Amino acid sequence: MAMLWCAILLTAASLRVSTGATVDLQDIRLANGNATAGRVEVLIDRMWGTVCDDSWADEDAGVVCRSLGLTGGVALSKAAYGKGQGPIHMDDVHCTGDENSLGKCWTNIGSDNCLHSEDAAVICQTA
Ligand SMILES: *[C@@H]1O[C@H](CO)[C@@H](O)[C@H](O)[C@H]1NC(C)=O
Repeated sequence: MAMLWCAILLTAASLRVSTGATVDLQDIRLANGNATAGRVEVLIDRMWGTVCDDSWADEDAGVVCRSLGLTGGVALSKAAYGKGQGPIHMDDVHCTGDENSLGKCWTNIGSDNCLHSEDAAVICQTA
């Protein structure tokens, strides 16, 4: 049991170390769904791209929803709303849940270990 906790703590610590920075996110949209649910797409450096589902959680989804003027926030992974195209802009996103934009969350910028089959999506509720 002690070994297990140690492994969990070490994993958490390494995830935290690998999370890079906040990012200058110019816009955000939901794709391939409807007004309240879809694949998360972010505009960075004037290019639309996607978010990898590694560490993608309801706290992160909630920030996406709030930034779109919506409520709720259920995180979906494995390209639940289809595979996007272009750059995978963010990976290992760690929102506390209080941020007003996904760009304010700690994240890896870009990804070297994700495919579009891991694109993150959300389901929000209307406000
Ligand atoms: C959008 O999709 C979600 C998830 O499937 C669904 O719960 C919701 O009712 C849909 N909204 C509209 C307006 O169709």
